[in-house]
Amino acid sequence: MDYHISKKVEQMAPSGIRAFFDLVLGMKDVISLGVGEPDFVSPWHIREKAIYSLEQGFTSYTSNKGMPQLRKQIAGFLKARYGLRYDPEEEILITVGVSEGLDLAMRALLNPGDKVLIPEPVYVSYIPTVEMAGGKVTVLKTDISNGFKLTPDQIDKAAAHGAKMLVLNYPCNPTGVSYTKKELTAIAKIVKKHELILVSDEVYDELTYDFAHTPFASLKGMKDHVVYLNGFSKSYAMTGFRVGWACGPRKAIAAMTKIHQYTILCAPINGQMAAQEALKNGNPQVQAMKREYNRRRKYIIGALNDIGLSCHLPEGAFYAFPCIKAANMSSMDFASQLLQKKKVALIPGVAFGSECDDYVRISYASSYENLKEAIARIQSFMANQK
Ligand SMILES: Cc1ncc(COP(=O)(O)O)c(C=O)c1O
Repeated sequence: MDYHISKKVEQMAPSGIRAFFDLVLGMKDVISLGVGEPDFVSPWHIREKAIYSLEQGFTSYTSNKGMPQLRKQIAGFLKARYGLRYDPEEEILITVGVSEGLDLAMRALLNPGDKVLIPEPVYVSYIPTVEMAGGKVTVLKTDISNGFKLTPDQIDKAAAHGAKMLVLNYPCNPTGVSYTKKELTAIAKIVKKHELILVSDEVYDELTYDFAHTPFASLKGMKDHVVYLNGFSKSYAMTGFRVGWACGPRKAIAAMTKIHQYTILCAPINGQMAAQEALKNGNPQVQAMKREYNRRRKYIIGALNDIGLSCHLPEGAFYAFPCIKAANMSSMDFASQLLQKKKVALIPGVAFGSECDDYVRISYASSYENLKEAIARIQSFMANQK
């Protein structure tokens, strides 16, 4: 039978990350610095809680919104940590990771043709989710000259023609760049001026190294503008549990919950129970993982600069985004040749935007020893380019 696939889906480009990783599959002795997930397993007490929940027979659906206890804990955590107040009944939805939260926000809030501003380099799922929801993406380019940071002026100019939404991700995948409270406050003024909805993906908030993370919703006058997305994947090394949360104004959360209840029903119960344990007792492990990422960050950025791949110091997440101009080839050639010749896998910059071809993304969510060996191999690869 000839399947007539949805035109939107047919036009959608496959994820640049996945495409590249199909190449890696099946190769032996590859050091993979490609995947965007912690190399730690979830802390034992969290896994134990998940196991115990199964032993106790927790195998059912939960409330669509997520378990009340988990929503209460998230509300308590956000208040204690950031002074953010969300009503666990109506302003918090438990999602299947930030990924689902993003999709729900787009589908619940956009009408066909609504303009959405998205900074580039961009996390791979933003543009497809906006487009699937019928929105129109306007890309706001950032580059090393402004430290890969979006400026208020850029947003102001782009929003002048009627944008509805801005998507912000900090600390950022792939650049690792984050924003200080002062920088966010300047952006907030423009968000207010143009009455934008701000979808704020803060999944790497715990991995902010050089200054305190400020949630966008905690800025003066911003709570009503923000759909705040976060989750357990990165900070607690819980990617496989698939639990995240969306907080926002009642109306937005109610609309998102409507879609969620028909498409997902609820996030997995054992994941939700593990997440409760994470919030209760997980902070020491989060801090220990953060210290280790920070140690690796300092090492890898120094090492990349030493071998001629200039790289800014990322303020958060676990990615380095070095410039590969010195190798004089496209990012796809760089990544493919490095993989073939030296068995190091990283992600070509073009996966994150058409103008990112002078860059590659290196994940330092890999052991210190792996990073050292990878740097030695990259150094030898670069020496052969001369
Ligand atoms: C910026 C960003 N947002 C969202 C996600 C997905 O997170 P989750 O596992 O919570 O769906 C990722 C994963 O790599 C990410 O880098």
